[in-house]
Amino acid sequence: MYNSKISGLGYYVPEHVVTNNDLSKIMDTNDEWIRERTGIQERRHVVKGDGDTTATMGVKAAKVAMERAGIDKKEIDFIVFATLSPDYYFPGPGVLVQKELGLDTIGALDVRNQCSGFVYAISVADQFIKTGMYKNILVIGSELHSTGLDMTTRGRAVSVIFGDGAGAAVLTREEDTTRGILSTHLHSEGEHAEELALTAPGMGGRWVLDILKENDPEDTSYYPYMNGQFVFKNAVVRFSEVIMEGLKQNKLHPSDIDMLIPHQANLRISQFIQQKFGLSDDKVYNNIQKYGNTTAASIPIALTEAWEEGKVKEGDVVVLAAFGSGFTWGSAVIKW
Ligand code: ACO
Repeated sequence: MYNSKISGLGYYVPEHVVTNNDLSKIMDTNDEWIRERTGIQERRHVVKGDGDTTATMGVKAAKVAMERAGIDKKEIDFIVFATLSPDYYFPGPGVLVQKELGLDTIGALDVRNQCSGFVYAISVADQFIKTGMYKNILVIGSELHSTGLDMTTRGRAVSVIFGDGAGAAVLTREEDTTRGILSTHLHSEGEHAEELALTAPGMGGRWVLDILKENDPEDTSYYPYMNGQFVFKNAVVRFSEVIMEGLKQNKLHPSDIDMLIPHQANLRISQFIQQKFGLSDDKVYNNIQKYGNTTAASIPIALTEAWEEGKVKEGDVVVLAAFGSGFTWGSAVIKW
């Protein structure tokens, strides 16, 4: 048996900055409302025509991660790509990364677990490495939200929260099983699938032709829906549970955490968790202020920035935790 470790990290965000004030010019919202409730000050949006897609942003992040890992693309054995905003309905973006990077015909797996996508993706990659099947796996989380949001007052409760971007990690075999990814824990509760969802078009429900035929201007089913307060209540409970689950498994305590990277759902959620575990400001990394909620990309972007700033160091106990649509949630405990 082996462990896996994160040997390289990278991220990419589009250049175009959209501030809260920019949004207040196109919908009835304001900087104070957004900051107070979410902590977000600005986010990045892809500019249509610039060529950025979920797959291409993932490729840009992946190139940085591979360079930092010091490995040639020929050494990548497998791709795991997490997103809720794929370029195509199918195939998923994993194969587009294989093509764009000019990789051999290695396997490419797409993960559909929304805000928990990156934690699910590294858990999958970790299992392939633990069994000895693969040595280096490219794990990407990338989202292009902005083109699919209702950017009018009607959609403001959701559209002000989300931003575009990508993060990537190279997972590499680690012979020392006391280091690297020590454990991952994954959960779901489909009973609440519709509380945070985009339900159309769907093959089992209303397909594109139905939407076109109905041509209903009040139809919002092809925009994301979120029951914000219900999500908040569930998120704080599940985040706490799954972090504790990971710590217990490794005989660790909250005071052993050197860096917690929570999925950047909402600054208020992160602050609640920080307080609950009694962690000081330097032990929880937040960058939702700059990028909004980038769903599957939020953890790898935040982890990369924390690492670039020297806040994640060799020997540190790093905990990743996420909660989101599904509901799904998960954690990873890493000895860096
Ligand atoms: N700007 C101004 N006013 C707004 C906006 C906006 N962008 N959006 C909603 N409002 C208004 C509403 O219309 C409502 O007005 P009313 O009282 O006249 O009806 C009022 O603000 C309050 O609306 P609520 O939905 O009750 O606002 P709430 O205080 O619950 O805050 C929020 C909404 C921030 C989404 C909150 O529920 C929350 O933090 N939820 C957690 C979910 C979350 O963070 N999800 C992130 C994505 S999912 C994930 O990553 C897990």
